[in-house]
Amino acid sequence: MSTPKISVRDVQKVFPVGKEPFVALGGVSLDIADNEFVTVVGPSGCGKSTLLNILAGLEQPTGGAALVDGKPVTGPGPERGVIFQQYALFPWLTVRENVEFGMRTAKVPKGERRERAEHFIRLVGLEQFADALPKTLSGGMKQRCAIARAYAVNPSILLMDEPFGALDALTRVRLQEQLLETWSKERRTVMFITHDVDEAVFLANRVVVMAARPGRIAEVIDVDLPYPRDEDMRLSPEFGALRNRVWHAVYHQRQIKEPAK
Ligand SMILES: Nc1ncnc2c1ncn2[C@@H]1O[C@H](COP(=O)(O)OP(=O)(O)OP(=O)(O)O)[C@@H](O)[C@H]1O
Ligand SMILES: [Mg+2]
Repeated sequence: MSTPKISVRDVQKVFPVGKEPFVALGGVSLDIADNEFVTVVGPSGCGKSTLLNILAGLEQPTGGAALVDGKPVTGPGPERGVIFQQYALFPWLTVRENVEFGMRTAKVPKGERRERAEHFIRLVGLEQFADALPKTLSGGMKQRCAIARAYAVNPSILLMDEPFGALDALTRVRLQEQLLETWSKERRTVMFITHDVDEAVFLANRVVVMAARPGRIAEVIDVDLPYPRDEDMRLSPEFGALRNRVWHAVYHQRQIKEPAK
């Protein structure tokens, strides 16, 4: 078998909280194949962002290993584009400069940088605001700017932490479809965290359901629906059945952890 694009091997993360260690991830193992689209759902605090930050190279695991292309992750890299749960824009740079920033680090020549920035700013519908500073944008607009910045670097891996959470329903559906279109055209391996079960099923090859205390994988559900996926598919009984299965997997653990008083 070929090397998985991403390999998470018994990853543990313990944070010291006061005098007590807090186990945010208690041994998570997951392989993601090249060009696979994996979504991650689970209750708040179950370690989704912690796992993503470890793959991004921003946190070190306290046990186990995270590998990309068979090599341990030691820090951030241009092949991994990250979209954070809290839009992380440079406040002193305009939308255009923010979008160009990642490409500058990746040493993309100036002319191409300009062109690509224009393209992705248009894609997320911010062309009117290309010269605006982040503080003058709404939350959803800031998030769209962060999406444009990550896409513009053209990374082979996208690590996305609730990227569409702050968006209105229409923009959200448009960006979901657009993300799938890009993904089907160019090779991309995606790990996408969401609270939205419908979104998790619509996008993914596989949905990873996590559980809390300690953070771990509760279930992995294959989404055997053909691409391209469209609005009609969301209404199909097959889609409904999968959504119910994922919802049940998330809801069931709440019932176990919170018995009736
Ligand atoms: N730097 C830190 N120090 C101490 N505890 C932390 C730290 N970062 C995260 N945690 C704890 O680890 C657990 C997992 O956090 P994480 O942010 O990964 O959750 P999450 O699944 O992304 O939640 P949400 O859905 O709310 O974003 C939480 O209980 C959190 O309080
Ligand atoms: Mg999170």
